[in-house]
Amino acid sequence: MSTTSDANRIIIFDTTLRDGEQSPGATMTLEEKLEIAQLLDSMGVDVIEAGFPIASNGDFESVAEISRVVKNAQVAGLARAGQKDIDRAGEAVRHAKNPRIHTFLSTSPVHMKYKLQMEPEKVLDLVVQSVTRARNLVANVEWSAEDGTRTEIDFLCRCVEAAIKAGATTINIPDTVGYTVPDEYRALFKTVRERVPNSDKAIFSVHCHNDLGLAVANTLAGIEGGARQVECTINGIGERAGNAALEEVVMALKTRQDVLPYLCGVDATMLMRASKLVSAASSFPVQYNKAIVGRNAFAHESGIHQDGMLKNTQTYEIMTPESVGVLKTSLVMGKHSGRHAFREKLKELGYELGENALEDAFRRFKDLADRKKHVYDEDLEALVDDEIDNAQDRIKLVSLTIVAGTQGPQLATMTLDVDGKHQTVQASGNGPVDACFNAVHAIVPHEAKLELYQVHAVTEGTDAQAEVSVRLADAEGRMVTARAADPDTLVASTRSYLGALNKIMSRAARLGGGERIHSTEPMSV
Ligand code: KIV
Ligand code: ZN
Repeated sequence: MSTTSDANRIIIFDTTLRDGEQSPGATMTLEEKLEIAQLLDSMGVDVIEAGFPIASNGDFESVAEISRVVKNAQVAGLARAGQKDIDRAGEAVRHAKNPRIHTFLSTSPVHMKYKLQMEPEKVLDLVVQSVTRARNLVANVEWSAEDGTRTEIDFLCRCVEAAIKAGATTINIPDTVGYTVPDEYRALFKTVRERVPNSDKAIFSVHCHNDLGLAVANTLAGIEGGARQVECTINGIGERAGNAALEEVVMALKTRQDVLPYLCGVDATMLMRASKLVSAASSFPVQYNKAIVGRNAFAHESGIHQDGMLKNTQTYEIMTPESVGVLKTSLVMGKHSGRHAFREKLKELGYELGENALEDAFRRFKDLADRKKHVYDEDLEALVDDEIDNAQDRIKLVSLTIVAGTQGPQLATMTLDVDGKHQTVQASGNGPVDACFNAVHAIVPHEAKLELYQVHAVTEGTDAQAEVSVRLADAEGRMVTARAADPDTLVASTRSYLGALNKIMSRAARLGGGERIHSTEPMSV
């Protein structure tokens, strides 16, 4: 077995909050980004790419805020090659302990001709100017050759040499369009590092997209070619088919030390938590068979496999569930479980609730157990997350009755508790969900716009809990996301809609903002 040394230390650069957030529909709120950044920091990620500061004021604010709260990791802000972009990124990361500006420019013939409409010599000039400007602001500068894997090798080498000479400390050669294959990518790094005379003055980095499903394989090949920084995202989210998944890269390195003798500083036992947090914040469910963090990643269904597992877990497991933060649980919850077992189970899942919250959660668990044969850990997590979110709410769902089916119109009769006062309406809609949301609107008029409505089943079976995510944009266009779970999809939909409204109201109260949401007298039923 080969030995590892500092020269084989891999820098983990997480871009969940930048490339990941660029996935269509994955926009996250400032609070969600801060929570993710703090978790990434505590799990030992080396560099957190916090956003693209020039993109919007919201992006700038979140990069600035993340720079303030992150304790150990370097914080990077992305910038195109223009002066304004670079200055804005420099300003956003200014408060970080170790700030990095990550600037990029396309170098492939197709990008230079059609996207940039620039001659290669002009691109080369701009590489030097942009890196020089960034280097005047911070000591830690990364330069990326966008569409690097479709760039002519001579030109790529000239750009890399110029960027290093201008002060770049990290050189990233991204596979922007997910086009390369492992042997080619490994050879590319080897060639560039051999041909560029000052290549020893910079750390080389991989950044792989997953258009052909090769992002992680290409990432590992890039490391073998000499790259020592890996750009990746939690759950592999990112532009189009996504980026290389951080959890897969980390576990490949840890599990196959015999052939991949490289080290990284990530605490793998936090991978599952990070996956759940990012999935919840981005409203992107994790596919069941996703490597490492999918719910089936450690599930054994067939009799032959179960038999083997009982004899020795190594028969069908190449890593333990505990090593990635999946708890092997023994307590099975059902309608006969008591308060004590419930409390112990929640502890096992990482929750410490106060007496009142525990009592409420226990009551809801009993209701659920009455309606549902098996109560899985995921059901309990959804239930308790809901409980925690609901504690401070001003608007609560009291009751809901729906008339649906082929004989339309669909009707929702709803009672809400608004600041302690019950109000009831009946509203119709284009389908039962629309009727529910119209009923909420009738009791609590508001200007917030629905940006996302997503349903997925927490567990299997027709009695599964539905988890609904609702994202609303408030009158200023700021997003809030809320989730709720219930075996009744319409109850979950209404509760998650109310959750988002409650968040907007509490933000308005916190910021002393305008009363854009207010309750009215009930409409006649
Ligand atoms: O995919 C890509 O090329 C990028 C760059 C900005 C690094 O995300
Ligand atoms: Zn990318």
